[in-house]
Amino acid sequence: MAPGVGEPGPYALAEIATDPADDPLTRLRSATRQALAHVQLHLAQSEEPRLVVVTRGEAPEPALAAARGLLRAAQAEHPERFVIVDADAESLSALDAALATGEPELALRGGSVSAPRLVRVRDAHGAAAPALDGTVLDGTVLITGGTGGIGALAARHLVSAHGVRRLVLASRRGAEAPGAVELREELVGEGAEVVLAACDVSDREALAALVAEHPPTAVVHTAGVLDDGLVEGLTADGLDRVLRPKADAARHLHELTRDLPLTAFVVLSSLAGAWGNPGQANYGAANAYLDALIAERRAAGLPGSALAYGLWNAGGMAGELDDAQVRRLAASGVLPLTDEQGLAALDLALGDAGLLVPARLDLRGLAERTPVRPLLRRLVTARPARATAVAPVASDSGGEALVARLGGLDEAGRLDLLLEVVRRRIADVLGFAGPEAVQVDRLFQDLGLDSLTALELRNQLNRATGLRLPATLVFDHPTPTALARHLLTELAPAEAPNPLLADLDRIEAALAALSPEDDLRHEVAARLRELARSTADAELAEASEDDLLAALESELHNF
Ligand SMILES: NC(=O)c1ccc[n+]([C@@H]2O[C@H](COP(=O)([O-])OP(=O)(O)OC[C@H]3O[C@@H](n4cnc5c(N)ncnc54)[C@H](OP(=O)(O)O)[C@@H]3O)[C@@H](O)[C@H]2O)c1
Repeated sequence: MAPGVGEPGPYALAEIATDPADDPLTRLRSATRQALAHVQLHLAQSEEPRLVVVTRGEAPEPALAAARGLLRAAQAEHPERFVIVDADAESLSALDAALATGEPELALRGGSVSAPRLVRVRDAHGAAAPALDGTVLDGTVLITGGTGGIGALAARHLVSAHGVRRLVLASRRGAEAPGAVELREELVGEGAEVVLAACDVSDREALAALVAEHPPTAVVHTAGVLDDGLVEGLTADGLDRVLRPKADAARHLHELTRDLPLTAFVVLSSLAGAWGNPGQANYGAANAYLDALIAERRAAGLPGSALAYGLWNAGGMAGELDDAQVRRLAASGVLPLTDEQGLAALDLALGDAGLLVPARLDLRGLAERTPVRPLLRRLVTARPARATAVAPVASDSGGEALVARLGGLDEAGRLDLLLEVVRRRIADVLGFAGPEAVQVDRLFQDLGLDSLTALELRNQLNRATGLRLPATLVFDHPTPTALARHLLTELAPAEAPNPLLADLDRIEAALAALSPEDDLRHEVAARLRELARSTADAELAEASEDDLLAALESELHNF
């Protein structure tokens, strides 16, 4: 459990730093690999409940921002195991005091402490952000990933709403991408000239040639791929696969267009970077890098906007989400944007609005789920959950209520209660209609649990029981019944044996240690026989020496 406000609680400390002499992409590799190594080592070995990871840098550094993006996903997968601190040397002395706030992420800079919060655009800007509304965009617009789901929507919108007459749509497959030729025909029909370029934008030379051939006046970078998996299994290759088309390509685009008079430089990042999605540590790193690159550009006086979209069913990546992932997003309060909403955000970005998080959040639903994640505390004020007709089996109260209820039940009643808790959580995680749909003796695998949902079930059970259960929980206890039995032993261990039986236990252990020839063994056995004879248990009295020892053993084990 997290320590209370006022005390930092025990923690291990790790630092991530980059070498300013390295080039930006070497720093990106270094920082994200350091973050990954710290996470994996902590999960595998550390005795300390929490690892505080400090990203050390004197100035904002996109490579360190990417490391924090990775760490946020680790936090989502393993709640309360990681704290992220971004600090300069001057402010580190305030670390313990800052940790005592209980915030999962902090910045200690210039001697002050802050924690990230999402705020409404109008609150941040004091007014609505300046949208590019019906303005004609001259020149060539380069859209990376321009034949993908959002890229194609952006291309259509740029032509129809902003009168763009020259588009370069770059993707690895170019004209071979599904729907690419039809898209070009459609846009040409509206009076635009469209180049379908087969170009891997993570390849600096190929991108440089494309930029030289078609110098853009605006850039919209949507290229990206997903390669999801739990952080414990993430490799440097798996990290690179997702960093390359997003983060490396964005850095190349930034450098290759720096001397061009751009009117807009828009990157599509994702809420995953700021929020931390389980299973997306690599994607979180790539998107957080994009957001920080935009901050770097703006600090240098260059145009730049990042759109950290929530969920947008634009026929692209979101289509790869399975039902469980969409449900998980909805449960965390993220609902899909409509095309109109997504494109309205693009207009804000083309108007150079800076870093935006276009997301449809179920604020009312989030308010009823406690605790509200710190990132949302300026948007959501927690309200007590509406009274329900049926009392919940176990609230997320850290397990105290559950343990109290177990105390009032016999063994069978405890198992029934815990089985209900387990079935309810499984139903939640897998989106079943209710706990009764969860067959108690089916293997989790056959019920449909995968590594991500298994982790989510573990996290939910941690909250419901107050235990710190391992990530291997459902592999060690592979059915709902087996899992409930395990929780029973953890939460309501058998009472200590009464002293008389404990003495018998000791005698049994001492006898087992004697050799069969030892006279003492025969002497004790004789005494035990005498003892048995003097009780009313005729069966015991007639038992042989071996039978007697076996009876004691099984009695003690069954206790
Ligand atoms: N959809 C959402 O809900 C959502 C939410 C948040 C953020 N986003 C972001 O929005 C962007 C677009 O998403 P989407 O849903 O439209 O995905 P998508 O349909 O999969 O589009 C991705 C595009 O990127 C291209 N691409 C991938 N690697 C490339 C590379 N190395 N060089 C050049 N092109 C490359 C792909 O084409 P090839 O395979 O032919 O190269 C494809 O056209 C992504 O960056 C994503 O992270 C999407």
